[in-house]
Amino acid sequence: MSERTLVILKPDAVQRAIAAEILSRFERRGLRIVALGLLKVDRAMAERHYAVHKGKFFYDELVKTITASPVIAAVLEGPNAIAVVRAMVGATRPHEAAPGSIRGDYALVGLRNLVHASDALETAASEIALWFPDGIVSYERGIDRWISTDKAPS
Ligand code: CDP
Ligand code: MG
Repeated sequence: MSERTLVILKPDAVQRAIAAEILSRFERRGLRIVALGLLKVDRAMAERHYAVHKGKFFYDELVKTITASPVIAAVLEGPNAIAVVRAMVGATRPHEAAPGSIRGDYALVGLRNLVHASDALETAASEIALWFPDGIVSYERGIDRWISTDKAPS
């Protein structure tokens, strides 16, 4: 089933100048970029995005970190996009992330784990609405019949 998911290349990815490289991995996988922007996140936005983590031991550092420097946010679309992106990102704690995953290849500690990715259909929908209130851009690519369908080519 075609899904949309929110990906945030967090401040550490932008500062380390590997944000485009990470985005490129998703693009090469076949996912379609349907929204994209660079922005500095304010505290109110960070608190809304991370509301589910309020009260946890890492919450304050998490909010401070995502507001410290710009992020690049994107919406990616494709079959099973949520699970595909989560698998590519890897485990939350980078020392547990498999080599080959983004965190497993580029990160060492939890608060510098480079990427946020939506974890379920409902969270993806609410996160996309929060980060891209003006909506996404729907379009087709000719190549998608060679990437995103199980149907025999016509
Ligand atoms: O990003 P992910 O969905 O994998 O993890 P999360 O449980 O939603 O937590 C959000 C973010 O908080 C993580 O990406 C980490 O940056 C941070 N975190 C942490 O530093 N240590 C933990 N034990 C859990 C989360
Ligand atoms: Mg999460």
